[in-house]
Amino acid sequence: MKTYSIALIPGDGIGQDVTDAAWQVLSTVARHSGFTLTGTPFPWSCAFYKETGAMMPPDGIDTLRRFDAILLGAVGWPAEVPDAVSLHGLLLPIRKAFVQYANIRPHRLLPGVQGPLKAKNFNILCIRENTEGEYSGAGGRVHQGTADEVAVETSIFTRAGVERILRFGFEQARQRRGKLASVTKSNAQKHSMVFWDEITRELAAEYTDVEVTSYHIDAMAARMVMSPESLDVVVASNLFGDILTDLGAAIQGGLGYAASANINPDRSAPSMFEPVHGSAPDIAHLRIANPMAAIWSGAMMLEHLGEGRAARRIMDALERTTARGIGTVPGKDRTETITAAVLAALD
Ligand code: IPM
Ligand code: MN
Repeated sequence: MKTYSIALIPGDGIGQDVTDAAWQVLSTVARHSGFTLTGTPFPWSCAFYKETGAMMPPDGIDTLRRFDAILLGAVGWPAEVPDAVSLHGLLLPIRKAFVQYANIRPHRLLPGVQGPLKAKNFNILCIRENTEGEYSGAGGRVHQGTADEVAVETSIFTRAGVERILRFGFEQARQRRGKLASVTKSNAQKHSMVFWDEITRELAAEYTDVEVTSYHIDAMAARMVMSPESLDVVVASNLFGDILTDLGAAIQGGLGYAASANINPDRSAPSMFEPVHGSAPDIAHLRIANPMAAIWSGAMMLEHLGEGRAARRIMDALERTTARGIGTVPGKDRTETITAAVLAALD
């Protein structure tokens, strides 16, 4: 029987609740579908930091490298560990070390979920560059604490990095409705964003079957609210993609539905699957977190592992659950209730 080894990093806050839910659904669907998932849990989190002084052990990346995929809950507990420490100690280094350069985030309404917009029939796939750009980490501070203090944070865009994410976007568009929106701010940022637009045009000449439009980020933010149905695949830089995908989560009914996949398309290292929401300290341990984003991320993991049929079974079960009105109103159903309903809907 085919076996996949999965590293489980529940992390902080509701990350623990939703990872547990996703793992129950994944294990059940594996059993029904004739393959095995073995899960190895890692306690890496802010609590781990408080004990050891690091978010993960020094050989953490080497340890994870041996797995077929990583399922992550959430990272961050700002009351005890500054976010800039926890995120740079766990989530962001994994994305970079494993060259998970494509962060894929689907935005559509599950049946029965209302969302805040009149438009209901949108189906957007956001693809966010995930290893460089505004998140490169290049910079520093001098004259700290004085009136002359300076902080510099330089965005880095490489031809290789921009080309591979755009190419990924074109390929996705080809498999969907053939439309690609490339998002920049090249009217104001005349180096990196003009560079991105140029590479978009170069690749468009190669992908003549894809209809590509360049948008500025401000106009794209408005479009996602005013006419989300006009969009298919949206590709953006690291920070722009980060912001647009919280907007995407909002229009799909909330962060409880926002799934994501940090993909290494070359498969030279494991990919990582995580809900977009954070650790949500305000509702941690109340067991009212919606596990659907984590479960959907789990389906994306199975798809990536080549178990597309099992992934579709999970999506069908999620849709049947929301269609019955379970998990459609924030805070109404308990995490366990939603999980049980999804499990029951897996035929
Ligand atoms: C996300 C998150 C992270 C990001 C944070 C927690 C560093 O907001 O995955 O969207 O900005 O990438
Ligand atoms: Mn974000």
